[in-house]
Amino acid sequence: MNAYTPHRAGRPGGGAATPPPLPAPDPVDGTARRRAPVRLGHFTAGQLGRLCDVAGIDAWQRTAHQRVLTELLGPAATLPVDGPPPSPSFVSDDHTPVEYSLTFPAGAAPVLRVLVDPGFAARSLPDNARTAWAAVGRLAAQWGFGLGELTRLSDLFLPPEPHGPLTLWCALELRPTGPTGVKLYLNPGARGGERAMETVTEAMTRLGHARAFEPVRRHVAARSPEGHGFMFFALDVGPWAEPRVKVYVVHPGATAAAAADAARAVPGACPERVADLCRLVGGDGPFDRLPLVSCYSFTGADTHHPTGHGLHVPVRAYVRDDAEARERAVRLLRRYGVPGEPVDRALAALTVRPLTAGVGLISYLSLVQAGRQAPRITTYFSSEAYRVLPPRQDTAPQGD
Ligand code: TRP
Repeated sequence: MNAYTPHRAGRPGGGAATPPPLPAPDPVDGTARRRAPVRLGHFTAGQLGRLCDVAGIDAWQRTAHQRVLTELLGPAATLPVDGPPPSPSFVSDDHTPVEYSLTFPAGAAPVLRVLVDPGFAARSLPDNARTAWAAVGRLAAQWGFGLGELTRLSDLFLPPEPHGPLTLWCALELRPTGPTGVKLYLNPGARGGERAMETVTEAMTRLGHARAFEPVRRHVAARSPEGHGFMFFALDVGPWAEPRVKVYVVHPGATAAAAADAARAVPGACPERVADLCRLVGGDGPFDRLPLVSCYSFTGADTHHPTGHGLHVPVRAYVRDDAEARERAVRLLRRYGVPGEPVDRALAALTVRPLTAGVGLISYLSLVQAGRQAPRITTYFSSEAYRVLPPRQDTAPQGD
């Protein structure tokens, strides 16, 4: 999409008073001393440690979370970030295999999550899948949760020769107290994009959600000629109060009104809120630079419909730079009565670069509506371990 600019990496932090990221020295010239390379594991553990401070996670838990992240990265943790990424991870635009998010539940502290591509160091997709499955298996063994659902679906999503752009990702919900929540992300197009509908329908049938999935299946099938399709299939595993299955649907070139329509399959979700979110970020659309993405969630609670809808807006494609993205994020949070200060703290935890110097540090803004729960906003943050994307040159001001 954009040409890349080199990144001036922040120095990894960690430890008790997790230090802020520091700018790297200027590029080595003939006289400069050789410095130890910054490694991906250190770099991301530093960011995660500082984000833990934002989410009110204490020093003991923070160290444990940093260790889990490093373990999930496996051999990738030791790779220097000034070298090229070993594989083009689809987690983020610069291919860092890690993305963070903060969710803002009404009246409570923000909740921190981290998404990882555990097979990132592998050179082929079959190896990526094997490595990721092994990493998730180790986590399950360590924490004592089962992977029965993943095993039951493995022929659908983890075939011997999987198609890209991902095989198996793992996200951790890092709570200040209590066990870490684990979510797995799979590729509906693993057996080929043209079989994604069949793959997702079969998976939903096996998991007992065939009927609840039907309104979503119809919505996508009616729009598949325009390119609407599936992006992820996600499973909550481990100790969740109410584990969910989630199906992510892309809406290429959709308008704000069309995105609102996507929420109509979910009883209780307010389409107008979805349209408002889109308008706040990018006007009425069409959103044709990067697609809007819906996420439908399914629990045992409703056997006829999805129980929740989330709309993800790739804000990074609709703003000039991250100062503008930050302003949209804060404005959105304010609409929901949430103070924007944690967003500023999170941005400072990630980088020291000026927000106007790049775009993509805030990758998505999302709104989730589920049952009687208050709507929740989530902000997604890139690591930028490898690169910073330059500000967009072609963005006329949009939105209100
Ligand atoms: N980087 C990919 C994208 O932008 C995948 C992705 C990462 C994603 N985080 C996401 C998609 C959050 C939707 C929501 O599409």
